[in-house]
Amino acid sequence: MKFPYSEKVLEHFRNPRNVGQIENPDGKAVEGSPACGDMVAVYIKVDSKTQKIKDIKFESYGCASNIATGSIITELAKGKTLQEAKKINWKQASEALGGLPSIKVHCSVLAVEGLRAAIQDYEDRHGVVKKKEPTTEKVVRKRLRHVMNPLTGLDVVRTNLIKEINIEKGVVKIKVGLPPDHQFASNIKEEITEKIKPLWDVEEVNVLFVDESE
Ligand code: FES
Repeated sequence: MKFPYSEKVLEHFRNPRNVGQIENPDGKAVEGSPACGDMVAVYIKVDSKTQKIKDIKFESYGCASNIATGSIITELAKGKTLQEAKKINWKQASEALGGLPSIKVHCSVLAVEGLRAAIQDYEDRHGVVKKKEPTTEKVVRKRLRHVMNPLTGLDVVRTNLIKEINIEKGVVKIKVGLPPDHQFASNIKEEITEKIKPLWDVEEVNVLFVDESE
């Protein structure tokens, strides 16, 4: 059987490097693709002195191209500083893999975005690079884009589940458009809290479920 993939893609697909999770990662992110509904998760450990990525792992719920790209970007990023790793783009990833079919570009973009988001997560948690900016609705919304809506495999912002965000004196209130007894309610609540709580000026996160159909 002839695959439309380079040898390198197939090799990384069959033997992906750095697969799995990291316990207590310094940064992590889950990215979903609007094109196909697939997901990729990236975990990093960072040396706080040198700002280098000392360990990186990924999990893919995507296709062969996504797995191969996840594998190659973890290889490219390992040992690099956060600033260097941020610059890794899909073109480099695709070149390192000997090319990807153009229909598969979104798959490599997804893995690259996962890496960037994991770095962003590290920076948000540790207040590096940027000055400590106060948490605004925009900041919260951006982070919520990394919380998946298990019903669709896309994030909760894009799928319109976030009905309201209110921030007052370190307390972030988020209204989610699902019945409180929904099978994924506690899971979504946990993930939202996990994303918002680490922000430096957030003391409390309240996630409320509002049943829109009532
Ligand atoms: Fe979904 Fe490739 S088709 S990640």
